[in-house]
Amino acid sequence: MIHVPSLIERKRDGGELTELELDEFIRGYTDGSIPDYQASAFAMAVYFRGMSDLETGHLTQAMMRSGRMMTHRPGSPPKVDKHSTGGIGDKVTLVLAPLLACDDLWIPTIAGRGLGITGGTLDKMESIPGFSFALNEAEVEAQLERLGVAMLGQTDDLCPADKKLYALRDVTGCVQSQPLIVASIMSKKLVESLDRLVLDVKFGSGALMQTRPQAELLAAALVAVGEEMGVQTTYLLTPMDEPLGHTAGNALEVAESVATLQGGGPPDLVSLTLDLAEQVSTVSRVQLAKWLEDGTAWRKFVALVEAQQGDATVLEKITKVHRAPIIHALPAAASGRILKMDAGAIGRACVALGAGRAKSTDPIDFAVGCSGIRKAGEQIEKGEPVLYLHARSESQLATALGLLNGNVGTIR
Ligand code: URA
Repeated sequence: MIHVPSLIERKRDGGELTELELDEFIRGYTDGSIPDYQASAFAMAVYFRGMSDLETGHLTQAMMRSGRMMTHRPGSPPKVDKHSTGGIGDKVTLVLAPLLACDDLWIPTIAGRGLGITGGTLDKMESIPGFSFALNEAEVEAQLERLGVAMLGQTDDLCPADKKLYALRDVTGCVQSQPLIVASIMSKKLVESLDRLVLDVKFGSGALMQTRPQAELLAAALVAVGEEMGVQTTYLLTPMDEPLGHTAGNALEVAESVATLQGGGPPDLVSLTLDLAEQVSTVSRVQLAKWLEDGTAWRKFVALVEAQQGDATVLEKITKVHRAPIIHALPAAASGRILKMDAGAIGRACVALGAGRAKSTDPIDFAVGCSGIRKAGEQIEKGEPVLYLHARSESQLATALGLLNGNVGTIR
């Protein structure tokens, strides 16, 4: 039996934990015998002291074993997925999962909620009225047989340790820790029993890793765990200095995903989706682009939403279902070229508006966020909006404006 205070102290002092200790710690945290306050102290100790590759592998496997593993029928199509380390306006999964399911592949994706300032697929999809991630084992497999795609979250059954630790890290300043990110992402992906995985490892002001070298180290650590566990794992390093697409915030991002699935959508979102899809798909980029353009991926998304109890009839008017009372245009201070649309500042503004959480029990406001986000390098006239803020209250709007001040639409 481990003595939890001693284990925390050893990590705090830079010691190395054994496989058995990590296993027992994760088991105890999952079954509730180890309380949140000890898990928070553990996560903070890991944040400051890091973990060896061996410890990271053991933590990942302990978290993977905290619930059941998915099993797929013998002879079923290749199981593939992608996971992003998180960014602002990163709605790629909403487009990519149904797109890949147009190929002869299964995508049993376990996604996450918002983490720190970055948004999460679960929160975005829950802005669709009725949409549910609560599928049991038999329902998941039946849906994969029928549609090739199922969107799931961590549950008491699937990666329960990550469900708890993820929510805890989100509100205790323990998000940006390489071993905790690796264990969180890879435990979920290993549970899916995948053949191939592509990782979108982001760097920049709106990412968990601020610099490209940090992101490279994270990518190497993620790939090492994937390959060791027999999953063909590749990655792309992608910048996150400005938001992806033109929206950030849950329902606003669903609307932009719908446009993309219907053959429109912003070029950066379309090209990143295709770049990632190509890594795990069996068909060409041209074919993938065609499925986006000809409505095949859109029909798959509608079928996915319906299969998981979502109301697909509102997808094309989701921003009317969730409409913030205040929509405020932020004007450019002068005519000229936009120098930056800082993703980190926009992410913090979205959280202040209620699109993310300050406490793990906080509800998400699906309606709030930013739309019409312009891109760095674009020409703009004085007074034209650099973005629109969607706010529930004047005080939240004022806080968000304060966070954006000097960080967006700098004009030369
Ligand atoms: N995505 C996850 O699932 N976990 C992390 O820790 C970061 C991004």
